[in-house]
Amino acid sequence: MMNELHHLAIIMDGNGRWAKTKSLARIKGHEAGAKVVETVSEFCIKNGIANLTLYAFSTENWKRPESEVNFLLNLLKKFIIKKREIFIKNEIKFKAIGDISVFSQDLQSEISALQNLTATYKKLNFNLALNYGSRDEIIRAAKKVIQKGDELNEQNLSANLDSADSGDVDLLIRTGGEIRLSNFMLWQASYAELAFTNTFWPDFSEDELAEIVENFKIKNRRFGGL
Ligand code: FPP
Repeated sequence: MMNELHHLAIIMDGNGRWAKTKSLARIKGHEAGAKVVETVSEFCIKNGIANLTLYAFSTENWKRPESEVNFLLNLLKKFIIKKREIFIKNEIKFKAIGDISVFSQDLQSEISALQNLTATYKKLNFNLALNYGSRDEIIRAAKKVIQKGDELNEQNLSANLDSADSGDVDLLIRTGGEIRLSNFMLWQASYAELAFTNTFWPDFSEDELAEIVENFKIKNRRFGGL
């Protein structure tokens, strides 16, 4: 029996180092990285992967120079506006996960508009982690459960996570050579298969993704059993 891949999550790392190897400014790496986001989304649609979660901006990324933070947030805004037609055409449901309340009104409005516009689509749940930290998401989910007066248990906590619609992560990939999770999907990835590659995100290709997915499919997943 092949494993089914319902939820793929990716830490897109290595944009800055990719740019450095080409003597380019770091922001050029982010620009190139944005293109790969499209490649990966198309791969999911073609291969029946129903949920994709991408780590685009962490709660720690604010520590970067202001100019890079501004560039990244602007790139995200452009992406959300420019790709609107593609989301509609491919029936992709867009969801920002993370605490977006700190973003400019402008960016928040664009995010809400795309979320509302695509809310009924079913081909792919596309979750973009923005000002995201897994611990923060878990605390916010726990607070929601308590506020509703529900019992704090695994099921209720899962149901109140930002990414609740997508369920547990089956396969988590990190590009860029680091072997760590960096506060990403800690709850959802409890039983995920993990794949780390040295490839910098802008160089991550459909072929490499296909190979990682093939390896995932034949893994013996025991979920703590035998
Ligand atoms: C990690 O590379 C990447 C990020 C912090 C941002 C991720 C953003 C993108 C892939 C592009 C924008 C995405 C969308 C959806 C428009 P890094 O800068 O940490 O690279 P480094 O480790 O080599 O410095």
